[in-house]
Amino acid sequence: MNQTDEPADPIPAPRGLPYFGCIAPLRRNPMEFFRRIALRFGGIARVPLQARRSLFLVSEPKLIKELLLDHRARLMKNTRYPAMQRLLGQGLLLSEGEDWRRLRLLTQSAFKPTELRRQVNWMGGYVARYLEGWKRNTESGAALDAELEFLRLTQLLAGILVIGPRFEAEAEEMFAITEAIKNSWPVPPRGILSGLRKPSPERAQRLEAACSDLDRLVQHFIDRQHKATTEEGGILGMLKAAAEKEGQAFTDKELRDQVVTLFFAGYETSAASMCWTHYLLSAHPRMRERLLREVDEQLGGRTPAGEDLERLEYVERVLQESLRIYSPIHSLSRVAIEDCPVGGFVLRKDSTAVVSLYATHRLPDYWPDPERFDPERFTPEACAGRYGLAYIPFAVGHRNCIGGTLAMMEGKLILAQVAQRYLLDLAPGQRVEAMAATTMRPRHGMRMHVRARAAQNGR
Ligand code: HEM
Repeated sequence: MNQTDEPADPIPAPRGLPYFGCIAPLRRNPMEFFRRIALRFGGIARVPLQARRSLFLVSEPKLIKELLLDHRARLMKNTRYPAMQRLLGQGLLLSEGEDWRRLRLLTQSAFKPTELRRQVNWMGGYVARYLEGWKRNTESGAALDAELEFLRLTQLLAGILVIGPRFEAEAEEMFAITEAIKNSWPVPPRGILSGLRKPSPERAQRLEAACSDLDRLVQHFIDRQHKATTEEGGILGMLKAAAEKEGQAFTDKELRDQVVTLFFAGYETSAASMCWTHYLLSAHPRMRERLLREVDEQLGGRTPAGEDLERLEYVERVLQESLRIYSPIHSLSRVAIEDCPVGGFVLRKDSTAVVSLYATHRLPDYWPDPERFDPERFTPEACAGRYGLAYIPFAVGHRNCIGGTLAMMEGKLILAQVAQRYLLDLAPGQRVEAMAATTMRPRHGMRMHVRARAAQNGR
């Protein structure tokens, strides 16, 4: 955050309260607050915080291009969150400079198109087996906790992707640890406001204990990998071998940071996206019908393979539109390491710039009637007529999501496999409200009823 008085140019700003700035509405609901600021002040706005500090909200897609592409060398990731540093360390998400470049290059080969197709092919079997478990709910009528279910499923897939197939036996232990981390995470969790409010000592102790449990489990994965062959090892084995081949082997701490980063980045976002997409489908029965028709016509009851996914065009549009409305990563935060021109203004060195995906994905100039769920916004014609950076669920620029293509494939795979078997409907009385946690989560949970679709596919 800018520790100095005023920016070099008078960037439009709401007044806020003396001394406290806009801290109260920002704490209450940062996503909605940023949306209102973007609507009222346009492309770039200064948001006054406590004690004369400010952050700068960049919302207009053409200014996002200036910030994240044209002037990317003047910015770094905002790593001022101690809890995030403790959890992820110097992995791909939080590292900078040469360390980051080396990691990105080494990791990139795990995300090549041929690799991705191979990954999706094994994922289908695990998803099928996981979804068998929902039969219990169709028989008993008990509602599913959809948020938790998709967390478990995507964690299993991310664990196998990163650690290898032996992760399945440790999945429950890992799930308990990640739940403990979630429940002791500082509030508010994502960087915008951290540093302004310290977590209670008890909460901090519980977080440290859960992170230590995680360290122990990940060290066990690494010890096992040291004794194993590369093929057994998922991305961990691949990274270890690639670094050794370069003559610059990773230390165990470096391997730990890569494993934890890829695992967390790989499952939490995907789980959120599955939870929100199934909610949207339950609220839009006609669109759900169309999705079911496409899945039945293209796949029948067959488990989709990598190449089948390309034919699921409507499933893809549904997922894209869901990622617009409920972007699992709702904001990006960057710090200027030197003065940075944006939109005719200058962000001074040390300023914090925020891009709210939530706000930009709702700008009416690009998204008429922005709250309406409409997968037709993503037909090739509609996309061709829209400036690309109006839609950035996987960010943009050199620090974009390395797993974006995989996430789309995995999301389509899960949507199709659920659609082949079940209908999910929001449980009566379930309140739905999006909340800005590390990812965008349903504040009151997401209980859903599940019905079998046995007749259609002869299951
Ligand atoms: C729907 C699912 C996903 C969404 C919406 C998503 C979104 C994003 C976004 C917005 C960023 C940029 C964050 C920032 O700049 O602060 C990011 C970075 C990243 N994502 Fe994803 N992600 C998803 C799935 C995945 C998956 C499946 C993986 C890996 C298996 C992954 C790995 C990463 C990594 C390692 C980074 C950091 C990249 C770097 O800085 O070089 N993500 N993701």
